Amino acid sequence: MSKITVLTAYDFNTARALAEAGIDYILVGDSLAMVAFGYADTKKINLGQMLACTRAVHRGAPNTKIITDLPLSEVIKNKEEVLKAAQQTIKAGANIVKIEGATKETLEQIKLLRENNIEVMGHIGYTPQSFDKPTVVREAEKLINEAKTLEEYGVMGIVLEMIPSEISKKITETIKIPTIGIGAGADCTGQVLVSDDMLGRYNLINPKFLKRYANQYEDSVRAFKEYIEDVRLGSFPSDNNSY
Ligand code: KIV
Repeated sequence: MSKITVLTAYDFNTARALAEAGIDYILVGDSLAMVAFGYADTKKINLGQMLACTRAVHRGAPNTKIITDLPLSEVIKNKEEVLKAAQQTIKAGANIVKIEGATKETLEQIKLLRENNIEVMGHIGYTPQSFDKPTVVREAEKLINEAKTLEEYGVMGIVLEMIPSEISKKITETIKIPTIGIGAGADCTGQVLVSDDMLGRYNLINPKFLKRYANQYEDSVRAFKEYIEDVRLGSFPSDNNSY
């Protein structure tokens, strides 16, 4: 069976391009905090920002399945607020909400969302993400138990982040739901990357798991320089650009 493909988007045009390319799922990830807002970690994002991005992505890719992260600030609040946040996220255009971790509290929240027929994706390994301490998580027994528990609680799939390949393989063989890897080797059921990373738009980090498919940051600097020069020299706008 062919592997599941997932990439992130936070805006209309990236979503359009992903849909046109034929992606299986678009993730409106809380990586937004780092790559679009410039924060040092993913914890700073709030529900309002996630909802605005989910709406933009849904407008750009109305027929593609969207997974949206429930921001950590909402996840640690009381049960009613988590349910309300998830319902708002679905109303904004997401099909699935993602919750990081497998703590007792997280599991209760997943249970509540599943009881209310909300699809949930789990996420274990290196969470929450931050700029300065990306760490490979090597506690095999703990990770396998977390994956099994998340499956029992009814998640539809689990993101495995920065986990050694042999542990991810074992998890993928142990549970029946899909595993989506990022820095978790080739044996996962699918793969996810942050689009800004793989496009070279966010080029401040270069983890081993990343493959760059473009150099958009450098392309942008080059184009901006060309424009600045054209305007300064008076070669833009030309007659062709004038009414
Ligand atoms: O927030 C995000 O983009 C994610 C990916 C790193 C999987 O959770």
